[in-house]
Amino acid sequence: MSRAKLVAANWKMQKSIAGARSFSERLVAGAADDVACEIVLFPPFFALPFAAEKLKGTSIAVGAQDLFWEKEGAYTGEISAGMIVEAGGTFVIVGHSERRHVIGETNEVIAKKLKAAIEAGLTPVFCVGEKISHREAGEAEQFVGEQLESALSQLSASDLERIIIAYEPVWAIGTGKTATPEDAVEMHRFIRGCLSSRFGSDLSERTRILYGGSVKPENAADLLREKEIDGALVGGASLDVDSFIEIASAAP
Ligand code: PGA
Repeated sequence: MSRAKLVAANWKMQKSIAGARSFSERLVAGAADDVACEIVLFPPFFALPFAAEKLKGTSIAVGAQDLFWEKEGAYTGEISAGMIVEAGGTFVIVGHSERRHVIGETNEVIAKKLKAAIEAGLTPVFCVGEKISHREAGEAEQFVGEQLESALSQLSASDLERIIIAYEPVWAIGTGKTATPEDAVEMHRFIRGCLSSRFGSDLSERTRILYGGSVKPENAADLLREKEIDGALVGGASLDVDSFIEIASAAP
């Protein structure tokens, strides 16, 4: 079973509206020839509609970095799935490690966000990943398995059809330390095994699992050539359009 590769840019709390516009323009111009994979940009909320406008009519999609699970109401500072759709977003990141470990989101909150995203027709990129302490204690799989299970137990098979998973080991995010392709493949296989035992191997074979954590032009080809690695969620190295195009071009 071959799954289409996807390379995504997570800008986090970085870039201006002007920066998002010029990146989008340069991406369209620069990616046209060499890039075979799907591309998604995750700008900050305020810049999302401006990137979406520039990318309209192209195959490049835009998404939000987070959402709130309610449709509307008195939730100061929050953004609903419907608002993301209205702004031109079709994807949303759910459960990024910075939201889990800096903002304090729990597995329960993340499960509600996944449901809300799916109900609104968005494609969630659901992030899981262990801290260095789990890896050193030999508990990485157990930890990632718990993150997965708490969400999967709330989802149906047709929900899973809509989800992309991103394995992002916390110790590799923004640190310059990348998981080796072997380590990433091993965890991707474990994740696929968890999906398979709950939803069957057909569906698990169709689900895309991205790798994230210090992906850069120098290591992208080694990671993306692995059959088990269905793409990359790129933070720091996605801020520069040339470096992001180089990464996306490395996808076979
Ligand atoms: P990084 O971030 O590429 O800067 O490590 C990845 C992510 O947080 O999604």
